[in-house]
Amino acid sequence: MIDPFGREITYLRISVTDRCDFRCVYCMAEDMTFLPKADILTLEELDRLAGAFIRLGTRKIRLTGGEPLVRREVMTLFRSLGARLGNGLDELTVTTNGSQLARFAEALRAAGVRRVNVSLDTLSAEKFAAITRWGRLDRTLDGIFAAKAAGLAVKINAVALKGVNEDEFDTMLAWCGEHGFDLCLIETMPMGEIDADRTEQYLPLSLVRSRLRHRWTLEETSYRTGGPARYYTVAKTGRRIGFITPMTHNFCESCNRVRLTCTGTLYMCLGQDDQADLRAVLRRGATDAELEGAIRAAIARKPRGHDFVIDRRHDRPSVARHMSLTGG
Ligand code: 5AD
Ligand code: SF4
Repeated sequence: MIDPFGREITYLRISVTDRCDFRCVYCMAEDMTFLPKADILTLEELDRLAGAFIRLGTRKIRLTGGEPLVRREVMTLFRSLGARLGNGLDELTVTTNGSQLARFAEALRAAGVRRVNVSLDTLSAEKFAAITRWGRLDRTLDGIFAAKAAGLAVKINAVALKGVNEDEFDTMLAWCGEHGFDLCLIETMPMGEIDADRTEQYLPLSLVRSRLRHRWTLEETSYRTGGPARYYTVAKTGRRIGFITPMTHNFCESCNRVRLTCTGTLYMCLGQDDQADLRAVLRRGATDAELEGAIRAAIARKPRGHDFVIDRRHDRPSVARHMSLTGG
């Protein structure tokens, strides 16, 4: 699938649930309302959609949420997608908050998953509790080490939050180096209503990178994971650090992905509202060819890029939907 700007779309992110057992301050309001169950695609429907994408050239699938591992029976979907590895699909990955990872690490590995991204914004138990509201650091750490023990490559994702974890990146980089994890820092994106003020949370990563360079030698690399992060090798640890900078640097030119929500809505861009309702197509009893036609038509509308802005005067989100719907 080639979009109107010549980008080959080979990466599908599927948000399998909008629910989560955390309430991160930059992601959700504490009293977040979730979708009614009837709106949610079954695991069979999600697998059928994934099959159509793979026939059209999707080579990498990431399951996200919400928190993907809180969806009931989600391992069934990992296994059915895992069975497609080598049959058009090259890679199956997951982004998780780690809370359930100790339970599922072995099963993920058995299903064919080789890499996991775990969201971890701080190594302080108090801060972790404050950021996630409902989470516990020790459970996420148990999950991370269970993943490592199961032979999964772990990448730590941390959202950079001004005045919250900005003093910790040195420590986190050292910790990741010690345990053999890559680290990826992410700028907060203005998505969905939250209780907090986003302008207060926003920290440009260009600043973080130059601060890190006081202590670490960061060597430029051409390493890419198929995502928007720009990576450097940390000379002292040999691990990588990535920066995802949607706000300070336009990362759209090389975009290769689209996002499917648990309701079967396909978003062609994380930062735009245009979408395609694939659930309606599915539930109308479409043939495989019709389904593929609907996907192709959607890709033909993929926009050039997002219009995220940090609006300092009116702290309004650029897109109304929450990250937990499209899974980052
Ligand atoms: N901006 C940036 N990152 C976010 N995440 C959730 N909400 C936002 C936001 N508004 C992160 C999570 C996780 C990843 C999927 O997205 O912390 O690491
Ligand atoms: Fe859950 Fe991830 Fe949102 Fe935190 S950022 S509330 S872990 S979906």
